Amino acid sequence: MHTSKSILYFLAGWFFSGSMAAFAQQPPAGYFDIPPGFDFPASKQTLEQYRTSANLSAQRLHVWNVFAGMTQTTPDGKYSIFETWFSEEEVFQVGPEPQALGPRRVVRRFRQPAQLSAMPGELVPQAAGTALLSEVLYNYAGYKHVRTNRLYLTVELDALRANGATDPVVPGNRMIPAFPAETVSLKTVWWPIAKDQVTALPVWDPESNPSRPTGNPFTSWARVVAVDPNQTNVPSNATKTVFFLGKQFSDAHLVGIDAFHAVKLDAQTAQNAMQNGRLAQAAQIALGRPLQEGDYVVLVATHLTTKEIDDWVWATFWWHDRPDDGRFAADRPAKVGGVWRNFLMSASYDLDLPLESDGKPHVAFNPWLEAGFPDGGSGNGTVSNCMNCHNRSAWRPDWQGQAGRVFLPIFRGKPDLQSDPAYSTGRLRTDFLWSVPFSSQ
Ligand code: HEC
Repeated sequence: MHTSKSILYFLAGWFFSGSMAAFAQQPPAGYFDIPPGFDFPASKQTLEQYRTSANLSAQRLHVWNVFAGMTQTTPDGKYSIFETWFSEEEVFQVGPEPQALGPRRVVRRFRQPAQLSAMPGELVPQAAGTALLSEVLYNYAGYKHVRTNRLYLTVELDALRANGATDPVVPGNRMIPAFPAETVSLKTVWWPIAKDQVTALPVWDPESNPSRPTGNPFTSWARVVAVDPNQTNVPSNATKTVFFLGKQFSDAHLVGIDAFHAVKLDAQTAQNAMQNGRLAQAAQIALGRPLQEGDYVVLVATHLTTKEIDDWVWATFWWHDRPDDGRFAADRPAKVGGVWRNFLMSASYDLDLPLESDGKPHVAFNPWLEAGFPDGGSGNGTVSNCMNCHNRSAWRPDWQGQAGRVFLPIFRGKPDLQSDPAYSTGRLRTDFLWSVPFSSQ
């Protein structure tokens, strides 16, 4: 009797004490992973072979497959699979696990990309960043890793910085426990479309946006399309005159709302977004007024990273009205369906390979997120590579609140471990994910 009672108390204590206690070992109802049939997770060995042999089309095909998987419609028909994933706020929140409370509800928590936040005296992409609504998402594997290792707590990061495993790349640094291979993280970018007026949307054409030392923020792009919220099946040659930032664009290509993955905002989501001063400014730039119930936000870009290889697979997608032209359209399989075929893509599995046509290290950037970065001495955002910047992600307490300082300037190619201050000793390297040092509390 006595023994079994103690065991019971022991178990009860184990279940109900501390933040680990309520952690559900299964994803909550309403959450969906990439289904089978989309090459995810692929064999590490195969992907490493694509990497070392610089087989760009095999690399691209794999990434397109993952994209096709994550954009499948959920069984209830309401969402795309990735929309049921965990927002950065949920991943890094302090307190009890919310999914213990019941099935998952999709709540959109838009922010401004921290990547574009300005610090006094720093070179950062101007006001340009202000027209973006962004949401970082983690799939369950990534979410679970952060929660079970308590990587959402700065005290835990401090402890790991003192006692964590030694970093094999940079002696003198420590590292967080590596994320599992099934981890996927996204950084999604949305553009507001008014419910009652045709809205301009900037479009990136590489040929008409030559690289500029001051950066190429979307406010500088040469072309916009006109998006009609109330039309579908718009003929491909239709045009309309629209205004963007006070400038007239005559005969802009007219596209219907059905060319996008569009989300109609409910009153609460619109109101929440407008309580954030910078998002209110974003709406002002795009619509000339605050977001309202019934307005849309359309997905214009997303970053994607998966831990299928140790250095992660990096890829990025952006919407285009001519999505079948050029090298960023290459290798897209039929599996990518519907509006998702309107995205172009760039991928990176390696800091260097495949080399660019000028013989320099591989480039991968998203026009919406990186093109605005000015030249910091080794090139601007249009010649950057995700991996170089993410490789530098680390935790050091005195960096808190100094977002702009830690990842700029832009580099590409292999890091110089001796001279690059990002690798100086005494850091806790955060397995390539910047939201760990940025969003832990
Ligand atoms: C100059 C630095 C820099 C470059 C280049 C960069 N990122 Fe990031 N990225 C960041 C920072 C900082 C964050 C933190 C979250 C935020 O900005 O909201 C981030 C967040 C992310 C996230 C969310 C997970 C995380 O790390 O926290 C993904 C996924 C991501 N980036 C993918 C990419 C891809 C893919 C590319 C290349 C196409 C890229 N990034 C290029 C700095 C960079």
